[in-house]
Amino acid sequence: MNKSITRGYFITVEGSDGVGKSTQIHNIENYFLKLGYEVQLTREPGGTSIGDKLRDILLDVSNDEMNEMTEMLIYAASRAQHIKELIEPSLKKGKIVISDRYIDSSIAYQGYGRRLGEDVVKIVNEYASFGLIPDLTFWLDLDPELGRKRILSRSIIQDKDVTFDRIELEKNDFHNRVREGYKEIARKNPERVHRIDASLKADDVWEEIELILRKII
Ligand code: TMP
Repeated sequence: MNKSITRGYFITVEGSDGVGKSTQIHNIENYFLKLGYEVQLTREPGGTSIGDKLRDILLDVSNDEMNEMTEMLIYAASRAQHIKELIEPSLKKGKIVISDRYIDSSIAYQGYGRRLGEDVVKIVNEYASFGLIPDLTFWLDLDPELGRKRILSRSIIQDKDVTFDRIELEKNDFHNRVREGYKEIARKNPERVHRIDASLKADDVWEEIELILRKII
């Protein structure tokens, strides 16, 4: 890749809650900024004002009657808007787009976690994403129970009450299935998806990510 590219480069960061995605996303951002690239950070669900409204519906703990198909379609709706309003225009400008979650989250959470199945999630998302596949994906892999402990200990350090959203409140079985889903995604997409051991210290996690970035880009 060189700086004259016109299409940009699309990176996604995936994994269960509490794996340290935010820290690594900022490291990736700084890596590219130092090289002189323009970077667009974003996240799903959300990334646009319509997406943020959909995010509120999806994560609201009072929406416990939400059917899993409804849930999957709202994530897909947020994604379609996100791509047309932000991701595609940014890539066209030649930017490096880094998204905190994308289609792999729907496959792992709705396909495996909710047991909707990978096929239906993939078909809906092929339409919802207009066929846009990330160039590179980092999957930060951690035992979900450890992730939960990290969220709790972070809240103690920061002296903030921890509030789990509707998805985070799901039982361990659900989160273990999500992890299995990511494992399958990584197995089926070895060129694109890189598994990173997120049980390591944040600096060591970054070392692994940086090594891959240096090799690929
Ligand atoms: P966040 O806490 O990482 O911002 O993500 C919000 C939650 O939404 C998180 O628990 C994962 C979940 N999620 C899905 O279930 N399906 C999806 O397609 C996406 C993007 C997120």
